[in-house]
Amino acid sequence: MVSRDADPDVVLHRTRRQRLLDRLGDGLLLLPTASEQLRNGDVHHEYRPGSDFHFLTGFPEPDAMLAAWRTGNGKHRCVLFVRPRDPTREIWDGRRFGVAGARRVFGADEARPIGTLWEQLPELLRDQDRLFWRLGAHPRMDQRLLEVFAKIAQQQRRAQPPAHPVLEDPVPVIAAMRRRKDDRELAALRRAAAITADGHVAAMAVARPGMAEYEVQAALESAFRRSGSPRNGYGSIVASGANACILHYHDNDRVMRAGDLLLIDAGAEYGGHTADVTRTFPVSGTFSEAQRAVYRIVLKAQLAGIAAARVGAPWDRVHKVCQRSLTRGLIELGVLRGSFARLVKKEKFKPWYMHGTSHWLGRDVHDVGAYQDRAGKPERLAAGMVLTVEPGLYFGPRDRKVPAELRGIGVRIEDDVLVTARGPVVLTAAVPKTIAAVEAACRLVRTSRASGPT
Ligand code: GLY
Ligand code: MN
Ligand code: MN
Repeated sequence: MVSRDADPDVVLHRTRRQRLLDRLGDGLLLLPTASEQLRNGDVHHEYRPGSDFHFLTGFPEPDAMLAAWRTGNGKHRCVLFVRPRDPTREIWDGRRFGVAGARRVFGADEARPIGTLWEQLPELLRDQDRLFWRLGAHPRMDQRLLEVFAKIAQQQRRAQPPAHPVLEDPVPVIAAMRRRKDDRELAALRRAAAITADGHVAAMAVARPGMAEYEVQAALESAFRRSGSPRNGYGSIVASGANACILHYHDNDRVMRAGDLLLIDAGAEYGGHTADVTRTFPVSGTFSEAQRAVYRIVLKAQLAGIAAARVGAPWDRVHKVCQRSLTRGLIELGVLRGSFARLVKKEKFKPWYMHGTSHWLGRDVHDVGAYQDRAGKPERLAAGMVLTVEPGLYFGPRDRKVPAELRGIGVRIEDDVLVTARGPVVLTAAVPKTIAAVEAACRLVRTSRASGPT
């Protein structure tokens, strides 16, 4: 039986669970997958398993719960609660692994129908002093849990034990594990990056004046699919002209004009991991002088930011380096004037660079993992972390504070960077980025298309 999100690497998931449970200590871990979301009527949004759940089980279906606890000697027991097989529902909704499949394919020590979870929970909780459960994430399940606690208290009232185990949130510990990628995760990210490069190259080749942004989106995402990505990691931003100044632009419906820049922020998902890449290129194939000047400045800032992504550096150093570099660029452009140090200190770049430079990347585009410790100090970069580096400059179409030729220009350049002991590695280096490489990618297919029908 196949499902595109099934990852039946039993040893990998068992190892991850053991590592997690060893960090958490004794107690019962209870972790649900994501819930299906109704769009309207009986139509659901596309389903994607919960990232934490999938990280620990590889199991792809909704209505599933992981229960696991240490049994001593470096071992643990894993019970998967899943949807049972159901010939009628499978005709409508698709195949299920069922209880037997959860054991056979995913290596659960035991599997049980999800409908029996709450009645079996008192038994699972017996002798457990701690329950690893995140309160607030699934309010309806929180309610069921309270009912289970009440039942346990009722049943055991003669012995007067504590009414419920101590609750602890397992999510920060899972997030810390996910922030440093293992070999398997890095392989998925590299493949997602390679596929994402195919899409951006296809978009550069196909875009031309007169096309709607969504036509370019179709070419981009078609290349993602052809290269083996089942879905995008997030909604593609395909923003031409002044739309590039809208950071989370999603309409993607403007008809592009000669002389426009096109900013595309899009990433393919592969093996449950996503890339996150932005490129900005001229729809007509050649940057104008003003566009070229802005692009050079953003690129310089981005390269400086990438170089700062080194083991031991506070993670926000990349941001600071980019802010300083962009400030110099804004002075060059005649947008800012005065003392460089003061401009940086007073964050005078903010009207044109208003977002952060980096976020963790992995299964989720804005991936899990702390950015600062409890004292508020920035986390330090370590080998195996993956972050984006994505500076930009955005000059609104009616911005009277900038020279007229800059108005309506928005440029962002974003790559995905793996931190290693030997320095930063750009996972998305295959996407054209220098002015020469971008213009060549825009023109290459234009030439071959002009050479005749295929
Ligand atoms: N694509 C979302 C971001 O760049 O953060
Ligand atoms: Mn990003
Ligand atoms: Mn992005």
